[in-house]
This record gives sequence, structure tokens and C-alpha cells, in this order.
Amino acid sequence: MNKQQICIIGGSGFVGLHLCARLVKQGYRIRVLTRNAEAAKDLRVLPGVELRQADVHDPAALAAQLQNQTAVINLAGILNEHRQGGFQAAHVELPRRIIAACQTAGVRRLLHMSALKADMAEPPSEYLRSKGEGERLVLAADDLDATVFRPSVIFGPEDQFFNRFARLLATAPGVFPLACAEARFAPVYVGDVAEAFTRALRIKETIGQGYELCGPKPYSLHEIVDYVARLSGHRRYIIALGPRLSRLQARIMEFLPGKPFTRDNYRSTLCDSLCKSRFPEIFGITPTPVEAIVPGYLGPREHNHYLSRLRQRARRD
Ligand SMILES: NC(=O)c1ccc[n+]([C@@H]2O[C@H](COP(=O)([O-])OP(=O)(O)OC[C@H]3O[C@@H](n4cnc5c(N)ncnc54)[C@H](OP(=O)(O)O)[C@@H]3O)[C@@H](O)[C@H]2O)c1
Repeated sequence: MNKQQICIIGGSGFVGLHLCARLVKQGYRIRVLTRNAEAAKDLRVLPGVELRQADVHDPAALAAQLQNQTAVINLAGILNEHRQGGFQAAHVELPRRIIAACQTAGVRRLLHMSALKADMAEPPSEYLRSKGEGERLVLAADDLDATVFRPSVIFGPEDQFFNRFARLLATAPGVFPLACAEARFAPVYVGDVAEAFTRALRIKETIGQGYELCGPKPYSLHEIVDYVARLSGHRRYIIALGPRLSRLQARIMEFLPGKPFTRDNYRSTLCDSLCKSRFPEIFGITPTPVEAIVPGYLGPREHNHYLSRLRQRARRD
């Protein structure tokens, strides 16, 4: 039985749930730190996962939580700035505090989640710029054995990409104006991302490295949305917007609840989210195609079931 104890920050979200399940299967004991234990209670059902509410931005509280941990995984991140915090706090100040807390608590191993293209010389968006600054801090830290991951957009049953387009298509009347239709992505399966993190814990050669993670095939956003429309049964006439109208749509949609699309998101799409090479061989993973997974949660029946669960949850809240 593996008795190693791993502390995960940002482990209550989409990737965290899959990663925790995989680590538990491998026999690791997991401590997930969250700012809101009530909202993260889904994790409690996983045996071997200890959920702790903590102010991860408080250096002393964080160092105390990292005592006796074998490794730390940082998954914390946001796609849009909101009242509770911005990119600088989540992607730069938090990693800086995690590094310091690891050093105080004597934890050497740190796996850090960044994003594809965050290591560009001049990232076009604040999301990518702040992710880049955070990962540089991690890779430069003294006394740490760090590994950085840079995935393209991640897909899986609870993702915020395919599911979001399915929701938007469901409510669109006849036509669907699509911003950044030519932007390109190589969506990577959440199970493969979780497996790469899990294997990295045992592969010493990953120390000091950064890995791009992409799925096997690139798609334009237009192709992805068309695919989602066909799968979910919400066929719409998709109108590809040019740069000016895409920016205008972002300007409007960033004022909608949940900010479905922002000017910073628009700027992120100015560089293609494609990897320079194939899935890193060191992990021994054959990346899973979109077509093998997405129909399992976006077929018409699956999607209607998903929507009714969302409505039920909204009524409960
Ligand atoms: N999903 C994708 O397509 C994708 C693609 C590339 C990179 N990534 C990166 O992968 C990571 C995980 O993504 P995800 O999809 O699982 O995101 P998610 O579901 O939104 O979960 C993000 C987690 O980050 C924590 N968090 C957010 N803001 C924070 C802050 N200011 N301080 C401390 N913790 C904060 C939250 O923890 P609590 O609220 O419980 O404290 C939450 O559990 C993120 O870093 C994201 O940028 C994701």
C-alpha cells in the first residue's frame, strides 16, 4: 500500500476531481485544500481524500497544511477575473506563496498546472501572461523538484468547454454567431492529464521540466461547435464573426452572468492552442480522441439529462 500523502491546492474543480480519483486508486492519501469546503463536498465521497478548508493565501496557514506531505500539486486557476480575485493573485501570488510554504514545510516535490502558450515571449492575454509568470517562479525556485504542465483546452464529462457550447447552442435561436471561429485547439482528455500528473510523481526525469499536453488532433473552434451542435441535436446555422465583431461580442458577453466570453478570452485565442510536438513520450500515454469520450456526455439524451440535473441544482441553490 502506497502511504504517500499528497496535498492538492485547487483540487476541488474539474481536473481535481479526476486527479484525486486516480491518485486514490494508486493508494496515495490526498489532502485537498479549499477556500469553501461546502462547495467542494463532492470530493468527500472519495475514500482516502481529506477535504480541508484553509486560507491558502495566508503563508502561515498554508505552511501548516503542508507539514508531512510528500508532494504538493497546484491546480488553482481562473479563466476570468472576478470580485473574489484576479489573475495576478491566483496565478502569480498564490504560486509564490506555495513555493515559500513548501520551503518552510520541507516539501521538495511540486507539480504545477500552467496553460498551453503561457511560456510564450509575449503572451497576448492577461490569463496567459500571469500563468507564464507563475510557472517561471516555480521552475526557478530553490530547493524544489518542480514539474510544470501546459495543457490545451481539457475535455471530459464536467468540462466548461464542450458543455458550455452545448448550453449556448441549446438557447440560441436558429443562428449562432461564433467569435474566433478560426482559433485552433487540440483538446486533451482530463483522464490523460490526470494520468500524466500521477505518473510524474514517480518519474524523476520529469523534475525541472515543463510539458505541453495536447490531444491527438487539432480542430478549429468552428469544427468543434459544429460537432457539438450535431451531437447534442441543437443544429444551428453558425456564423463565423470576424475580429471586430468577435471583440464586440466579448465586450458584451463579459457583462453577462458567469462571463461566458471576455476580451481577455478573445486575446487568448489570438495564438493557436496547439502543441509543438506529440504527447510527451515520457508518460507512456496514448492521448484519447475527442470522438471516444464526448458523445458519452453530449449525445441528445445525455445532454438533456445533464441540463435537467443543472436545473434541479439551480432550484436547490
Ligand atoms: N479546464 C481547462 O480546459 C484548462 C486548460 C488549461 C489549463 N487549465 C488549468 O488547470 C487548472 C484546473 O482547471 P479546472 O478546469 O479544474 O478549473 P476549476 O474547475 O475552475 O477549478 C479551479 C480550482 O482553483 C481554485 N481556485 C480558483 N481561484 C483561486 C484563488 N484565487 N485562490 C485559490 N484557489 C483558487 C478553486 O478552488 P476552491 O474554490 O476550492 O478554493 C478550484 O477548485 C487551472 O489552473 C486552469 O487554469 C485548465
